[in-house]
Amino acid sequence: MASGTDRRPIGLFDSGVGGLTVLSALMDRLPAESTIYLGDNARAPYGPRPGDDVRAFTLECTRWLLAHDIKLLVLACNTATSQALPEVRAASSVPVLGVVRPGALAAAAATRSGHIGVVATTGTVGSGAYPAALGEVAASLHVTQLACPRLVPLVEAGAREGAEVDHAVRGYLGELMEADPAIDTLLLGCTHYPLLRPLIEQAVGPRVAVVDSAFSTALAAEDLLDALAARAPDGGAATNLVYTTGDLAAFEVVADRIFPGALPGVEQAIVTAD
Ligand code: DGL
Repeated sequence: MASGTDRRPIGLFDSGVGGLTVLSALMDRLPAESTIYLGDNARAPYGPRPGDDVRAFTLECTRWLLAHDIKLLVLACNTATSQALPEVRAASSVPVLGVVRPGALAAAAATRSGHIGVVATTGTVGSGAYPAALGEVAASLHVTQLACPRLVPLVEAGAREGAEVDHAVRGYLGELMEADPAIDTLLLGCTHYPLLRPLIEQAVGPRVAVVDSAFSTALAAEDLLDALAARAPDGGAATNLVYTTGDLAAFEVVADRIFPGALPGVEQAIVTAD
């Protein structure tokens, strides 16, 4: 593992708790790196919002993270990546990684039939970012997308199981698999959805590989830090700070399920338009 001297944190952004799935993969892969996570829970979900709102909110949160002296920004949100990545890159003084390309690479590597299903928010599906990214990897891939707008509010509310979420997951995935029964790979194109992975895997059955962008985004971050010679020293004390614009207690309930006892307290962020 490469070791360096750049102790500045990696910034991660999501509309809410979903990007914690990317944070978790990043902490596993790069334990020496400090991180600072911002969830814009006060304005989540982003999925149903017009693109102009997603871009404006994402840029505000980007400025907040840049003010915390980050060395790399990870847009740990597909909706923000698919609708705001060029604008964020233009506004950022540090390199920016999105989650769409890493997710597309993981799905393209996993499929055998060449038929990939993508579940995501309404905004991500409408942007066409995944069919475009998968088409860049291999033009022969057959992509079927489905927007699942009921899932993010359930995850934000802390639901991981139970009749309501099970019914929603089975309904969406039944519809997707009916649209293309040759799908052998399901790409979770929203960083909230890995939190429902057991239900999703049950609903699609063992014949379908379920992939997300968390691990491949952590690998992309590692490669980029190496290329920039911007790694933190090995064995240094990494800090992992977590902020939300929303309700602290509600955020902590979900965060604690992902990182049982492992994260320090969640703090309040005030993100402004200036
Ligand atoms: N976690 C986000 C994503 O990956 C967005 C959820 C939302 O705010 O709708 O798309």
